[in-house]
Amino acid sequence: KNITLDCSRLHSYISNDELNQVLTENKALIQEILKPVKENSNDLGWVNIDGIANHELLADIKEKAKEIREKADVFLLIGVGGSNQGARALIEALGDSKVEILYTGNNLSPNYLHKIMAKLDGKSIYANVIAKNFATLEPGIVFRVIRNYMEKRYGEEEAGKRIIATGSLNNSSLEMLGRKKGYTLLPFPLDVGGRYSVLSAVGLLPIAVAGIDIDELLQGAKAIKNRIHTQEITKNDAVVYGVIRNILLSKGYHIEILAHFEPLFTYFSKWWVQLFGESEGKAGKGIYPTACSFSEDLHSLGQYIQQGQRILFETFLNLEDQGSQYIVPHEESDDDGFKYIDSKDFAYLNKTAYDATVQAHSSGGVPCVVLNVPQLTPYYFGQLFYFFEYACYISGSVLRINPFDQPGVEAYKEKMFAQLKTKK
Ligand code: PA5
Repeated sequence: KNITLDCSRLHSYISNDELNQVLTENKALIQEILKPVKENSNDLGWVNIDGIANHELLADIKEKAKEIREKADVFLLIGVGGSNQGARALIEALGDSKVEILYTGNNLSPNYLHKIMAKLDGKSIYANVIAKNFATLEPGIVFRVIRNYMEKRYGEEEAGKRIIATGSLNNSSLEMLGRKKGYTLLPFPLDVGGRYSVLSAVGLLPIAVAGIDIDELLQGAKAIKNRIHTQEITKNDAVVYGVIRNILLSKGYHIEILAHFEPLFTYFSKWWVQLFGESEGKAGKGIYPTACSFSEDLHSLGQYIQQGQRILFETFLNLEDQGSQYIVPHEESDDDGFKYIDSKDFAYLNKTAYDATVQAHSSGGVPCVVLNVPQLTPYYFGQLFYFFEYACYISGSVLRINPFDQPGVEAYKEKMFAQLKTKK
């Protein structure tokens, strides 16, 4: 089985003729994108799954993850943006609790850092610093804190054995530091941007440390990749999704909500928000991506979605098999007024809430797209990661922007560095 796109609720917003017209207008562009990747492409390394996760690297990652699972109580993932969100998306959904995984280097808050540091004493620590460009302040400077702490506790040599640096292996400062201090070095592929990096060493080591089957993850990604590259474009889910987003944007639907009824998708949504926001929001263009975890958010943003400005559309992740049962306890009386769902499964209640929400939002003027996800497993996460990365590539190209750069992120950095370098 595969994840599948269902656009059947869009008919009152986008006619078949309209969709076909935009597909025809962009046919040459899309066909070019779908061709096998040319050698030496600067940004498309992520398309070559077997390249960024080759056998040798996978063996190294598995061995290191095994060591960490045996020896560590706490694994510190030091990274920001694309350097931590992919791994976190999957770990928070499916990771086990053998090793506690803590995320740091993703902000500059002293309060947050205090909380992290307070969890380390007396525990066996391993750390993975991840940065494509080690000049990024958040992971760079938090890594200094962690490195100092670990060297004091373990001595420099042992600390070095407990630190893994995932960085650009082109004589970057992180690589040089790692060589000097004896860290395990893993490659951050030079031709892969952070938000497209989850299926490389960047995501795979932390994911393996969380006890998740990385082979299954990669198999899922390869299965959907195969579909994307072989399906005819009018039936190609990644193409259709990439195109309908742009049609909806042109009709004034400026905001896309990734909605789900599975809280385990919360960090996946954060990864998705970054992928589309950072890839498409430039040159005064782009859909503003956001996310909702229902049914909780039906009791907050649900009001706006149903009756606020008609500038929103929703993409639902519909988890077909919720995986577990939880039966409402039987009671003879109807004291709490819920006899009508006595002995029903929560999965049924959740599914009913999902059906009702899609109906209500669709009829309330919100275009609703559905992506059916068969199960919550590494395999389907692999499909989801690759599907959205590819759809983003297509969507950004149809929007006529470069989905692989992020020039806007530099603006705050320039001002911050200017101040930090001049002020006492
Ligand atoms: O997707 C991206 O390129 C960014 O979100 C980066 O991943 C993020 O800025 C972190 O960059 P670096 O890995 O260089 O520290």
